[in-house]
Amino acid sequence: MAIFPAPSLLIIILLALSITATPFEVRDSLITLPIARRLNVSDGPISLLQHDKVRVAAIKDCRHLGSPPVTNVAVNYIAKVGVGSPATIYNLIVDTGSSNTWVGAGTAYVKTSTSINTGQPVEIDYGFGIFSGTEYTDTVTLGSGLTIAKQSIGVASNSEGFTAGVDGVLGIGPVDLTVGSLIDGPNTAIPTVVDNLYSQGTISQEVVSVLFEPTTSKTNTNGELTFGGTDFFKYTGDIGYTPITTTNPESTYWGINESITYGSTMILSNTAGIVDTSTTYIFVATDAYTKYKAETGATVDLLTGLLLVFFRPNTYTLTPNAQIWPRSLNTYIGGSSNAIYLIVTDIGTASGSVSDFVNGYTFLERFYSVYDTTNSRVGFAKTSYTDATTN
Ligand SMILES: *[C@@H]1O[C@H](CO)[C@@H](O)[C@H](O)[C@H]1NC(C)=O
Ligand SMILES: *[C@@H]1O[C@H](CO)[C@@H](O)[C@H](O)[C@H]1NC(C)=O
Repeated sequence: MAIFPAPSLLIIILLALSITATPFEVRDSLITLPIARRLNVSDGPISLLQHDKVRVAAIKDCRHLGSPPVTNVAVNYIAKVGVGSPATIYNLIVDTGSSNTWVGAGTAYVKTSTSINTGQPVEIDYGFGIFSGTEYTDTVTLGSGLTIAKQSIGVASNSEGFTAGVDGVLGIGPVDLTVGSLIDGPNTAIPTVVDNLYSQGTISQEVVSVLFEPTTSKTNTNGELTFGGTDFFKYTGDIGYTPITTTNPESTYWGINESITYGSTMILSNTAGIVDTSTTYIFVATDAYTKYKAETGATVDLLTGLLLVFFRPNTYTLTPNAQIWPRSLNTYIGGSSNAIYLIVTDIGTASGSVSDFVNGYTFLERFYSVYDTTNSRVGFAKTSYTDATTN
């Protein structure tokens, strides 16, 4: 197929030279949770880009708390998580960019004998939404039978920005991001779901792995979370690891260093940014975006805010398909059905500022990703979808 962009976008992540402790392969006792992506289009074309922008702005401001602009969450990656005993099942957004777990936005919290009200007010700002409520501890169940005792959870009394069908968030970011979420409490971290799985001996490595498969449909179970290790049936080759960046504040997230080239042109030299399941697009610093725009010859599309490329006659280059938004979903982002939109977009500030890139879902659906607290590193591996022509 003759489509642009022609060259590949190379996201270069410097890998750690020595791999000491390889995370556990958990194929024998797989602890996995399916994840489903949903695009809510009932309000007509949605602005995924607007949703992403408020998210990225909150990350760049290190805004874990505050009064943000709120948009409806139009795209969600949902896992079913049980809370209580017997458990009530909640649809929670899987978020590597925050670390608290809470319920009650949609389905109301159902108290059982394991529910303990700590009386602490709790509040989180996601950029795209906000929630406030009360902290409880309760039994949390992941998948079939993986239980966590006395997990801190938030119970929402108010939430904004979360659409129907979403009950809250499963935060799988680093524990540092919980600091300050208890309004009156001590300014200390609250153990996350993954911390407690590890400290309670349920998993032997503090690792979560994420697989997203590219999808061209609105609702699809297209991903998998694996707790305690990696699932070698889900990726190909080796996992390359890179240390959590030493740059602050990216180091409080799943922050890494990377550089980006387009063809042979360096568009972003080595700098810190983050990996975030709750951002859809790939954001890069303005100077990198300007170079990418010039290299691809794309123009900004007024309907979607994304870069639009035109068919070029006699250009028959193999598609770097992964740089393209799924065309079957074009109309859902307000675009026209046959256009080609690029998923690389402008972070709004020049490189050298906070978080020069955010590798969102459209990156993560091409690479298996591993979030390793035990060894303070993030890993990536190819999957059967890395080079797939799906868009
Ligand atoms: C989609 O969003 C609208 C309002 O924004 C809401 O009324 C509707 O229930 C949502 N649908 C789903 C499936 O989340
Ligand atoms: C990441 O890049 C910064 C400078 O941009 C550098 O100081 C640091 O050593 C690099 N490596 C790590 C692991 O942070």
